[in-house]
Amino acid sequence: MRRNPVVPYAIIAILGVLTVVIISFVGLNQRADIQVAEEGGSEQTEESQEGETTGGDPEAVFQANCAACHGGDLSGGMGPALTTVGSTHSADEIADIIQNGIGSMPAQSQVAGEELTALSEWLSEQK
Ligand code: HEC
Repeated sequence: MRRNPVVPYAIIAILGVLTVVIISFVGLNQRADIQVAEEGGSEQTEESQEGETTGGDPEAVFQANCAACHGGDLSGGMGPALTTVGSTHSADEIADIIQNGIGSMPAQSQVAGEELTALSEWLSEQK
């Protein structure tokens, strides 16, 4: 009895199709995992950004960067009181002090951009 020469090829073809199907399932699962990881990851960065970025709210920027030395209510502490800083300093001068420091106050260069502008203007209104 002659063997049908097509059968081995058919088996190989079926195995091949199965392999492709299996691989794509594994791939889909991995993609789902990666997507979950990416979503988790982006949520984390959003959270940490929310924690750090105060959206230019000057009082929050002050609490985060200055209150330790100038007091939570501007009344001073290790640094001088800033309750009337606006009567002696313009917003530009205050921004300069924040960026470069002054005397024994270290530069607060982590405050930049719109946070710096908002904080300087807010402080210059404290008269
Ligand atoms: C590590 C403590 C410290 C931190 C943090 C700090 N300061 Fe100061 N600041 C000082 C000290 C000390 C002085 C007085 C410096 C001097 O004249 O020798 C000062 C002075 C100043 C002055 C000048 C006051 C004046 O009447 O001449 C301003 C304005 C000021 N700080 C604003 C800020 C702001 C705004 C922040 C936050 C972004 C900040 N400081 C963070 C310690 C600090």
